[in-house]
Amino acid sequence: MKIVALLGSPRVNGNTSYLTDQALAEAGRLGIETEKIVLAQYQIHPCQGHDGCEDFASCPQEDDTEIVVQKLFEADGVILATPVYFQDVTSQLKTFIDRTHFHWYHDRKMRATCAGTIVVATRSGIEDTTKALAYFITRRSSIGAEQILKVHGFARREGQIRDNVPVVEEASRLGITMAEALLAR
Ligand SMILES: Cc1cc2nc3c(=O)[nH]c(=O)nc-3n(C[C@H](O)[C@H](O)[C@H](O)COP(=O)(O)O)c2cc1C
Repeated sequence: MKIVALLGSPRVNGNTSYLTDQALAEAGRLGIETEKIVLAQYQIHPCQGHDGCEDFASCPQEDDTEIVVQKLFEADGVILATPVYFQDVTSQLKTFIDRTHFHWYHDRKMRATCAGTIVVATRSGIEDTTKALAYFITRRSSIGAEQILKVHGFARREGQIRDNVPVVEEASRLGITMAEALLAR
């Protein structure tokens, strides 16, 4: 059983990454295989808006999108993690989300049965960003909005979130809850 986390932050040692690591570490301790995908380390080009995905056997763009889709869509549990950029997900994550329009047209969904979101902001935009992540999860899987586990915190400098012990604990709990849900299947 495997949980895959998709990290939208380009800061590999950043706040969102740290919380994601806590969740995955706890799941790993319970025997779940885990993987964190740092989107910034993959080549994901923006959707070109052909708006005819159903006419193509594969997306005409050649990049790493399919590699990431394969990992994410085959996972038993998924975590979507992003800092807030301009009240929304980062451009790395939005670019990837747009590219899964193709998979929606080809009836390809994530097979995950549990999901979590992790969002970090300095001040504002948590609600809209969490909603965007939840929308992606509900549109690309059979998971209902009410089933999604949500964690958020406030921080600005890289790694600052470590000092926010309650949020770090919440992220750990998210990992434990998802792992327990998978083990109970
Ligand atoms: C381009 C950019 C846009 C941002 N927009 C917002 C915003 O709209 N609201 C906010 O509260 N913080 C905003 N932030 C701050 C980040 O959300 C914050 O620094 C966060 O801790 C970064 O997380 P990370 O370390 O995981 O990358 C922005 C940061 C950047 C670089």
